[in-house]
Amino acid sequence: MDSIAPQKQTFSITTPLYYVNDVPHIGSAYTTIAADVASRYHRLAGVPVMFVTGTDEHGQKIQRTAEEKGRSPQEHCDLIVSSFQALWEKLDIQYNSFIRTTNPRHEAIVKEFFQRCWDQGDIYLGQQKGWYCVACEEYKEERDLLDGHRCAIHTNREAEWRDEANYFFRLSRYQAQLEAHYASNPEFIQPEIRRNEVLNFVQQGLQDFSISRVNVSWGFPLPNDPDHTLYVWFDALLGYVTALLAPDDEPTLDRAIAQWWPINIHLIGKDILRFHAVYWPAMLMSAGLPLPKRVFGHGFLTKDGQKMGKSLGNTVDPFDLVARYGSDAVRYYFIKEIELGRDGDFAETRFVNILNADLANDLGNLLNRTLRMVHKYCNGAIPNLSAADIPPDDALKVAGTGLSHPVTDAYNAFAFSHACNAILDVVRMGNKYIDEKAPWKLYKEGNHEAVEHILYSVLETVRQAAYLLSPVIPNISNRIYRQLGFSVDFQSSQIPLNFASHNQWGALPAGQIVENPEPVFQRLELPE
Ligand code: MSP
Repeated sequence: MDSIAPQKQTFSITTPLYYVNDVPHIGSAYTTIAADVASRYHRLAGVPVMFVTGTDEHGQKIQRTAEEKGRSPQEHCDLIVSSFQALWEKLDIQYNSFIRTTNPRHEAIVKEFFQRCWDQGDIYLGQQKGWYCVACEEYKEERDLLDGHRCAIHTNREAEWRDEANYFFRLSRYQAQLEAHYASNPEFIQPEIRRNEVLNFVQQGLQDFSISRVNVSWGFPLPNDPDHTLYVWFDALLGYVTALLAPDDEPTLDRAIAQWWPINIHLIGKDILRFHAVYWPAMLMSAGLPLPKRVFGHGFLTKDGQKMGKSLGNTVDPFDLVARYGSDAVRYYFIKEIELGRDGDFAETRFVNILNADLANDLGNLLNRTLRMVHKYCNGAIPNLSAADIPPDDALKVAGTGLSHPVTDAYNAFAFSHACNAILDVVRMGNKYIDEKAPWKLYKEGNHEAVEHILYSVLETVRQAAYLLSPVIPNISNRIYRQLGFSVDFQSSQIPLNFASHNQWGALPAGQIVENPEPVFQRLELPE
């Protein structure tokens, strides 16, 4: 494999396991799209991928929602889970494993894990007093609450006072070990701002956290004390392990971690960083399991500057968005417009403008106008040239040759927005190039050789862009490749193209018959 391909032998990635208190909102779609882009990029490069997503179905929040809706918790979960799965299908999400934490095999994994921590002396009974935010499923420090004991994330919810016997996990015991791990693995928490947040938090001194509840029936009973149910987060994090069991595997920890553990990257939102970068590694240390390689905390999607969320009720409906604009449009906007790691605002006018500018005008038109010329001037076939025939100072050849390194580096670093921008810059250069070279004039002047060089260069630039963008916009990439005369499917799990050659400039085969130009992306209209 080419040296710029990902260096990994295999690649495993997780999204958070989503709460099923309500149907998915665009925030959940955002994380899942980003994880899908990373997975598709690795598959494209021939790396075996395990992409885990799923649902977090226990706990008080779900129990209460089901009660409010007059359903049993399980009925409620089944209903909502199907809407997550339907959305992932509409958004072309290619996950390998979907874990539901109510799966009976999960209980076996959780019990075994709990026992390991118990045997280490890391679980004990104590008294928990404090303010609990049910929407976060998390105890809050009084200083972190707004007036009226409202949660800073779910500003319309009041935290509830609790004073009850709980089992605790001895997090304090892992302070030094965690600090040593952060120090010797600087890439463990990304981006840098999130790493600093965690380091500051841990530096203040870690306190044991409670891992059982007495007032919640919707959860796994504690193996040693069935009057308690297990805290939803203790159970949910272990979903990442259960998800790795093959369908016929015995549900044991050893089986589950045999092939894909440790996970290469947990992709999460910044609000659940502490659980993934502090609690979870300590739990794994206690149970004697290797730690995940990386935890990446992305930013929030906001609407009118406020966090969008189910509990706040100010969400954008992803079903509606994908029904009106299509999967590639939604994927492209969130991946290109928002740097993963930063917050980003959603505004529909901006959405429509960006897509029309980038995909309809810049990319779509470039292919369309060039293919028309290929039919007119070259009998509907790619000019009989190879990249070696194009002069070394040809602007598109220079740009395309310099493109694969930064783009593959960006994909490897989860800088997807950067990857898209670098590709689109070259596409824009292609439009400028063809305007300036005016092949229609050269053709009239009888300079057919120059026309062929120009058309080859431009089509090759479009092909390379389509290839490099295929993890983000697989349907458009399919249309482009097919119009260029390839038979390929970027939606297939086995992509029959050689990464080392197709990510580089120059893979377009001489003389290949092209199809008639069709718009690869229909211009979007804003609703009245
Ligand atoms: N169930 C837990 C995760 C357990 S993982 C073992 C949970 N679920 S959640 O459904 O509330 O949130 C899932 C993810 O969606 C989190 O990463 C969260 O950051 C993300 N988002 C929720 N609202 C969001 C936005 N408005 N914008 C971007 N992501 C957001 O937490």
